[in-house]
Amino acid sequence: MSEPITRYKPIVYIVGLTAALAGLLFGLDVGVISGALQFIEKDLGIGTFGLEEVVSALLWGATFGALISGFFTKALGRKSTLLIGAVIFALGSLCCSIAPTAGILIGARFVLGIAVGIASFTAPMYLSEIAPRSIRGALVSMYQLLITIGIVLAFMSDTYFATYCRIHEVLGGHWRLMLGSLVVPSTLMFIAVFFLPESPRWLLLKGRSEHARRVLDRIRNSAEEVSRELEEIETSLEQKQNGFHLLRNNPGFRKVLLLGIGLQVIQQLTGINVVMYYAPKIFSIAGFQTSAEQMWGTVLVGCINVLATFVAIAFVDKLGRKPIMYGGFIVMGIAMTAVGLCFKFGLDNHPAVQSDSALHSVNPLLSFAAIAFILLFIIGFAASAGPIIWVMCAEIFPTAGRDLGITVSTCTNWVVNGIVGVTFLSLLEGFGHGNTFLLYGGIEILFILFFLRWAPETKGVSLEKIEANVLHGKKLREIGR
Ligand code: BGC
Repeated sequence: MSEPITRYKPIVYIVGLTAALAGLLFGLDVGVISGALQFIEKDLGIGTFGLEEVVSALLWGATFGALISGFFTKALGRKSTLLIGAVIFALGSLCCSIAPTAGILIGARFVLGIAVGIASFTAPMYLSEIAPRSIRGALVSMYQLLITIGIVLAFMSDTYFATYCRIHEVLGGHWRLMLGSLVVPSTLMFIAVFFLPESPRWLLLKGRSEHARRVLDRIRNSAEEVSRELEEIETSLEQKQNGFHLLRNNPGFRKVLLLGIGLQVIQQLTGINVVMYYAPKIFSIAGFQTSAEQMWGTVLVGCINVLATFVAIAFVDKLGRKPIMYGGFIVMGIAMTAVGLCFKFGLDNHPAVQSDSALHSVNPLLSFAAIAFILLFIIGFAASAGPIIWVMCAEIFPTAGRDLGITVSTCTNWVVNGIVGVTFLSLLEGFGHGNTFLLYGGIEILFILFFLRWAPETKGVSLEKIEANVLHGKKLREIGR
């Protein structure tokens, strides 16, 4: 049954936006490294392997952070966990910016990753617990939108520090300022989260029903709504989290857990973070040799990523998840294949690109075509797999196994993200520029087959219905029917 459209108190949106700030920091940390890499390479004298380690240390940290978050959110509460996350964000950024050696930088990026993992687990959880039911989807999507905004802001500040800022001449290295400047948003996040109310669901879990009622009084429209929600939470808390029991005894849950893992593997193997982490490098091998060209190109990538996310938000509940995903895979497949062909039959053969010297002897049309296809790829991703995989993973797990399901699928996202980050430069060197992109293009066909065979359509279906279908062992493709 669809609910009538209600106006909510402004505090609901303020609270939602504040919690989604964790997404902004997540995005800032993911985005900042692409612009910093070339300076780190020169300054610390690191080779390909070391650079891949610098990129991926954050991702291993995030995997660890996501793994331990379930414990902290349960023991200390969602708000305290977000506060701990903000402190680690600030300390991690500071340590990165003053790291004297590659080893210490890699260690500091791991610590920073723990904060990113905590944010990626806790913020959507807090948002979905504090949001009124009818705008829950929108608030959780706001979190993904803020990730993309964080990425583009990081690209912009990287561009500023690389191109215009002269302080680095005194302080020794642009990259230190790029990474260190994130202390500012981390501190702001700490202050903002400090004023957030605790999640009513967690308060009830701890038996603090009076406190939970006070929070709901502030963020809901009427006393009747407050009582109804308190009752609903009490009922759902009776269903103890028992993911391991389900894992042992329910084949339907095992299948859906594999589906969650598969969805996150697919999201990362699209190759999105190849572009997010290594955009300036891609611009450089496509023939754009100046730092300014590469940095502004990267900013463009980030802006397109933000804008295309609105397309998914607008259509996800109208067209459904699967049609949008098919469209996305086709666009991404065509785009990556075209980039591969530009390298294989043009850019790669040119001595100017091979020797990393000036662009202008390369056919500029081909360089622009390669970059246009990279941008098309970003549109394909941001309008489909970016938000939709997170939405689907939040929908498919039954209540009793939701903590386990989300922990496992979120960790999968980070692990595969790490594998992609750690292998891209080696793939470029060992396998060739063209072949690497052709590989990413071709793999999209497998994802279409996966979706045809296993993915359910969950548009407009209640979570209770999906839960009943999963637990009764219905085919994965049919759990939304
Ligand atoms: C992915 C991230 C990616 C980001 C790009 C997210 O949905 O999980 O790995 O960096 O989108 O916008």
